[in-house]
Amino acid sequence: MAIAPIFRKAYWSLAIAGGLYFAFISLLLNGWIQRQAFYAHRVHTAWLHDPNKPEQFGFLKNQVQRFDIRTPDGEVLWGWHVLPLTLYAENERALIGQPVGAGDYEKSWAFKLLAENPESRLIIYFHGNAGTVAQGWRTDTYRAITAGASDKIHVLTVDYRGYGRSTGSPTEAGLITDGISLVKYAMEVAQIPPQRIVIVGQSLGSAVATAVAEHFTLEDAVEFKCLILCAAFSDVPTLMSSYTIGGLIPILSPLRPYPFLSQFFAKRIQETWFTFVRLANLVQNSKNVNVHLIHAKNDYDIPWSHSDTLFYAAANATSVEGLTFKQMDAVKTSIDFGESGWTNLWNTVQEDGGRKIIRQDIVKHGGNSHSLQKLTDRIAIAHQS
Ligand SMILES: *[C@@H]1O[C@H](CO)[C@@H](O)[C@H](O)[C@H]1NC(C)=O
Repeated sequence: MAIAPIFRKAYWSLAIAGGLYFAFISLLLNGWIQRQAFYAHRVHTAWLHDPNKPEQFGFLKNQVQRFDIRTPDGEVLWGWHVLPLTLYAENERALIGQPVGAGDYEKSWAFKLLAENPESRLIIYFHGNAGTVAQGWRTDTYRAITAGASDKIHVLTVDYRGYGRSTGSPTEAGLITDGISLVKYAMEVAQIPPQRIVIVGQSLGSAVATAVAEHFTLEDAVEFKCLILCAAFSDVPTLMSSYTIGGLIPILSPLRPYPFLSQFFAKRIQETWFTFVRLANLVQNSKNVNVHLIHAKNDYDIPWSHSDTLFYAAANATSVEGLTFKQMDAVKTSIDFGESGWTNLWNTVQEDGGRKIIRQDIVKHGGNSHSLQKLTDRIAIAHQS
């Protein structure tokens, strides 16, 4: 008889936890709340450091040039142009002499060094959710990326609408417009040809990067040097089926035993970011394509199985009739790099002479920081070749 109250207590705790969970996911049915949670654009520490003063993040004076661009739908996006170190050293005197954050970007030394050197290479970097261009290790990423060839690799990156100092608020269509605007700016105003541009996306940024590359392929048959997707996800409904906020609060995984409920909620995700569809479309419609997927095996936010989905979707899209997983496994080259991880390679020459390369690197250790290392190494190699 003495046990009964304990059970009753346990029952009530469970009922309360279940009730709270349902209240929580019911809130997530609201589109506005979904966007706040997914884009996390209000989560940042810009009140600690001012992204307008890149020197606060350890950069040399005027090593980072701030700029802004306008989107066709009237938003103003705020961004950074990061100069590589050797190039900076060669032009140090001129750069230091320039007023900090010179108002007119197109008259700045940074712009001139990018636009006027036929050897310059450009990384257009799309960041993940939350924060600003200056958030956390993003600043280290820019340093590492430019170090791959520190006399010529520049980085351009912007805060999407609703992030940092950019105007507006984020939506799927809006972020894609932002990405297209930045790439257009680089090609039309700075006049960098696409063969000298590598598009890089991290996490949410990989979805933006893919949509942007797809757009340029379909609209203008533009082929970039390479598309590098780091910690990419196939689509939001699949991501949410395993995602936990801060590694603690699950979104849809508790519903897995109840397919009806899972589907009910999954169908109500408004911004789906179907990257696997866009990637397949991109691969299918380009003549030449070079896609690198990089993922850490111990990425707990975005499981590396997502990069498998993307790899197969892209490989499949190189064939007109489509392929089974078995056929793809028989053709792909897998290379085991021991403790460094492994690589799957899909390298096809098409009937029209075009070349489609899909590469997947899985990093075994170190989570996001090592996949970052791999990312910077791959960028350096992509630009050398
Ligand atoms: C593979 O491609 C074919 C033809 O385009 C398509 O019908 C099929 O759904 C694709 N399969 C996968 C797994 O993407």
